[in-house]
Amino acid sequence: MNRVIEFNNVTKRYPLYHHIGSGIKELIFHPHRAMGLLTGRSYLAIENITFCVDKGESVALIGRNGAGKSTSLGLVAGVMKPTNGTVKVVGRVASMLELGGGVHPELTGRENIRLNATLLGLRRRELNARLDKIIEFSELGEFIDEPIRVYSSGMLAKLGFSVITQVDPDILIIDEVLAVGDISFQRKCINTINEFRKKGVTILFVSHNLSDIKQICDKVIWIESHKLKEIGDAETVIAHYQAAMA
Ligand SMILES: Nc1ncnc2c1ncn2[C@@H]1O[C@H](COP(=O)(O)OP(=O)(O)OP(=O)(O)O)[C@@H](O)[C@H]1O
Ligand SMILES: [Mg+2]
Repeated sequence: MNRVIEFNNVTKRYPLYHHIGSGIKELIFHPHRAMGLLTGRSYLAIENITFCVDKGESVALIGRNGAGKSTSLGLVAGVMKPTNGTVKVVGRVASMLELGGGVHPELTGRENIRLNATLLGLRRRELNARLDKIIEFSELGEFIDEPIRVYSSGMLAKLGFSVITQVDPDILIIDEVLAVGDISFQRKCINTINEFRKKGVTILFVSHNLSDIKQICDKVIWIESHKLKEIGDAETVIAHYQAAMA
């Protein structure tokens, strides 16, 4: 057994900085209250979550809006740290966390591809060799040389996912990006994810589309009200989740 992701009693709280009403003024005139808000109160995102993922497993996180799925993915991607507990991740992570994350609106699609591919660890030579494939996958045509502020949300998803197709991760993280693509693009993405799977890449996938999950994942983690509700094989956990939502 080869563990590549390990959550040990992980809790994540987001601080309530923006709740310090009048900011500096509040801090000066009500220092105790301001500090109390700063240090004492927070939004709970996930609480005491423990699970592990082995190399090559394909795992979905499911649960209601606000349950804590994206937070869990963010912790694996390393974009934030847990408040309590430990998160261990072994290997190179490529993530598509949210629509428009890591993109610059004034840069063209092509320039954003270069930027993102570099952030995902592709060297210049590798990128030059793969750029045509990325652009072809994106189906963006002439829009590839337009600034991405003119893109629709589906076009942004295509741009983001096309870069993912040409990187070489050990762990691939996809947060709900397929939903905005058109049906034929979704099909292409699912095929690509399954190809990564065959190569032994570990997949973490978040979606509200349960049939996509059944096509991609063998294991499902159900998060309910910030806590781990159930973990197990995809069919079983999805059936329980559907019954609970009905
Ligand atoms: N930056 C933030 N600051 C404060 N609270 C946050 C922040 N991001 C998320 N939260 C809170 O943490 C909780 C978990 O959010 P998260 O985004 O992980 O949910 P999710 O399961 O991905 O939901 P969805 O299905 O809607 O994407 C929610 O209650 C949310 O309000
Ligand atoms: Mg989310």
